[in-house]
Amino acid sequence: MKTYSDQNIAQKISELKKQKNAVILAHYYQVPEIQDIADFIGDSLQLSQNAKNTNADIIVFAGVHFMAETAKILSPAKKVLLPDLEAGCSLADSCPPDEFKKFKAAHPGHIVISYINCSAAIKTLSDVICTSSNAIKIVESFPKDQKIIFAPDKNLGGYINQVTGRNMLLWNGSCEVHDVIKAEEVIRLKSEHPDAKLIAHPECKDIILQLSDFIGSTTALLNYTVKDASKKFIVATESGILHQMKKSSPQKEFIIVPTDEKCSCNDCPYMKLNTLEKLYLSLKNEKPEIILSPELIRAAESPILRMLELSL
Ligand code: 13P
Ligand code: SF4
Repeated sequence: MKTYSDQNIAQKISELKKQKNAVILAHYYQVPEIQDIADFIGDSLQLSQNAKNTNADIIVFAGVHFMAETAKILSPAKKVLLPDLEAGCSLADSCPPDEFKKFKAAHPGHIVISYINCSAAIKTLSDVICTSSNAIKIVESFPKDQKIIFAPDKNLGGYINQVTGRNMLLWNGSCEVHDVIKAEEVIRLKSEHPDAKLIAHPECKDIILQLSDFIGSTTALLNYTVKDASKKFIVATESGILHQMKKSSPQKEFIIVPTDEKCSCNDCPYMKLNTLEKLYLSLKNEKPEIILSPELIRAAESPILRMLELSL
């Protein structure tokens, strides 16, 4: 429920936005109060497309660091703000550039496809970037015999290998939120709710994906719940997405995995660092700002642009 102070802050944010020609881009994993005041909510691909095309002078990125960094790379002339600079990502952190450089050098003849959940430094070491919504299309754009390194998510990489019949070399990284979703919990919920469909994000372990009725990016999962005739869904991903699922289909039931009341382990601790108040302060003070060197921007831009072109 929205408090008086939330409404007050939301009002101030709206005034500042007009004054400063700012736009608020939010990921689905943000807290509901932020989703409700955002100009645009989306998955990683949609957010990067929006960041590239906006006419605003300031982008307030309600998401995590690699997302705001991508927005800055795509719109270097704009001021990009991240309400909490500590909002990182365990998956991006699981791929340190120095180690990845050695891995790449040890496997010559491979091209590198990196999931957008990585640092700008990893992007500079990549031939093309992908997100969970376009990964299969991006991989399939290369000949079947092309040797590929896929980084940093081993679960998404393994899933693409299965769907496409490829044998991409996988970096051993994972998301601390999706990778801990347990098969026992899923099996228990499926037997308690035999009428429910299980939907999962491809960052989940293979065993969860094998049990699922549908696999997709956050936007794909949301769209599936709107279009599918089922009345009940077991949702194996970060809990923030439930806000839009419930708003879009108020008559349907959504059960997040795990459902243990005491455990909020499917809340991304980094996404949830952003609050309405921090967002207001960042817009008011125009900081913390994402600052990247022109050299880094230039080097990281081309694999992201290649992804956007291949996504059309
Ligand atoms: P998508 O929004 O592209 O599905 O990615 C999910 C995620 O983990 C973002 O950090
Ligand atoms: Fe990173 Fe996982 Fe959080 Fe997404 S949900 S930002 S992949 S830690």
